Amino acid sequence: MPVKTYLVTGGAGFIGSNYINYMLKKYGESIRIINLDKLTYAGNLENLKEVETNKNYTFVKGDICDKGLVTKLFRENDIDRVVHFAAESHVDRSIRNPETFVVTNVLGTMVLLNAAKDAWVQADGTFAEGKKFLHVSTDEVYGSLGETGYFYETTPYDPHSPYSASKASSDLLVKSYMDTYGFPANITNCSNNYGPFQFPEKLIPLMIYNALSGKELPVYGDGLNIRDWLYVEDHVKGIDMVQEKGRLFQTYNIGGHNEKTNIEIVHIILDTLQKFLGDGDERKAKINNGLIRFVQDRKGHDRRYAIAPDKIRAEVGWYPETNFEEGIRKTIRWYLDNEEWKDHVLNGEYQKYYDEMYSQK
Ligand code: NAD
Ligand code: TYD
Repeated sequence: MPVKTYLVTGGAGFIGSNYINYMLKKYGESIRIINLDKLTYAGNLENLKEVETNKNYTFVKGDICDKGLVTKLFRENDIDRVVHFAAESHVDRSIRNPETFVVTNVLGTMVLLNAAKDAWVQADGTFAEGKKFLHVSTDEVYGSLGETGYFYETTPYDPHSPYSASKASSDLLVKSYMDTYGFPANITNCSNNYGPFQFPEKLIPLMIYNALSGKELPVYGDGLNIRDWLYVEDHVKGIDMVQEKGRLFQTYNIGGHNEKTNIEIVHIILDTLQKFLGDGDERKAKINNGLIRFVQDRKGHDRRYAIAPDKIRAEVGWYPETNFEEGIRKTIRWYLDNEEWKDHVLNGEYQKYYDEMYSQK
C-alpha cells in the first residue's frame, strides 16, 4: 500500500499532539505526517518528544496564514489528507483580544482551504480520489443549551464568544468550499476535551496545578455551567474514524454524554489529588475545599453544552471508550508524573496570563 501523507496543522497543541502521537503509533510506516505549527504560547514541541526522531514525521514551524509557505508545502509534498487543528482556542483570551482569533481561525482556514483546493483540483474541476480535508471544530458554535436538549448536526449556529464566532465562521467557509467547489471535506464539532498536554489555562489543568501549589481555584459565576467532557484520545480516534469511514461533505458531532458542572469537576480534582498524594507529601496538606473561590463570571458565559453523538455512532461506529472517572484519574496521574512538562510549557507565560486574569477578578 502506498504511504499516505498527512498535513496536520496545530500539531504541537493539546489535541493535535495527541492526534500525531496516536496516528504514528497506530499506522506506523504506512503514513507520513507533516506538522505545520506556528508555536504560539499554546504550541510546544515537548508534546511530541515521542515522535521527534520518527522518520515519518516532519515538523515545519510556520503560520497557516502564510500563503507562500502553505502553497509550497502542497507543491513539494503529495498531500493526501489535511487535518486542521491550528487555532486560537481559549475563550477568555478571545474576549480580551478577538483579533488574532479572526486572523488565525478564519483567514488561516481560508488560506489552507485555497491551497488544498488548488493542489487537489483536476482539469475537469473534480477532485482527485482519496484527497480529504478534515476541519476540527467545536460544539461552542451551537451556542448555549437550557436545562434539556442536545446539540445535533442540524442545530442552528448561535456562537456567543469571539472564539466560537471565529470557529463558526471557519466552519461556514469549509461548508462553502464543499458546496461551491465540491471540495472533499468533513467538519467535526467536538465537546470539551481533557487529558495529557492541555495548556494549563483551561479548566482542568489549571485547577490541578493551582491546587498542587496551594493557590486559589477561580470558579466563574455560580460554578453551575455545564460542559460535556471527552477524553482527548477518544476525540483523536473519532477524527481518524470520520476521515476513514465517514461520508464526505458531512458534519459529525463528537461528544461523550458526560455532562458535569464546573464545580463538580473542581471537587473531583480535589478528591482525586487527595487520594493520589502520599501522606508525607506537603502539597496534600494544602489541598482542601477552602481553595475554591467564586469569582466574577465570564462575559457571555454559555450555560450548558451537550452533544448528541448519534450520527457518528450510527455511521462511523465511534463511541466514547473512556468514562470520566477513568479519564480524569489518568489525566491527573499524568500531570503529577510530568511535572517537568509544566516547567517547559509555562515558561513564564502562564504565570503572566494568570496574574493578569486573576487581578481583574
Ligand atoms: P491549542 O490551543 O492547545 O493548540 C493550538 C495549536 O495551534 C498550537 O500548537 C498553536 O501553536 C497552533 N497555532 C495557533 N495559531 C497558529 C497559526 N496561525 N499557524 C499555525 N499554527 C498555529 O488548541 P487545542 O485545544 O489543541 O484545539 C485544537 C483544535 O480543536 C482547535 O481548532 C479547537 O478549536 C478545536 N477544539 C478544541 C476543543 C478543546 O476542548 N480543547 C474542543 C473542540 C474543538
Ligand atoms: P474552558 O476550559 O476555558 O473551556 P470552554 O470555555 O471552551 O468551555 O472552561 C470550561 C468551563 O470552566 C467554562 O464554563 C468556564 C469555566 N472556568 C472557570 O470556572 N474557571 C476557570 O479558571 C476557567 C479557565 C474556566
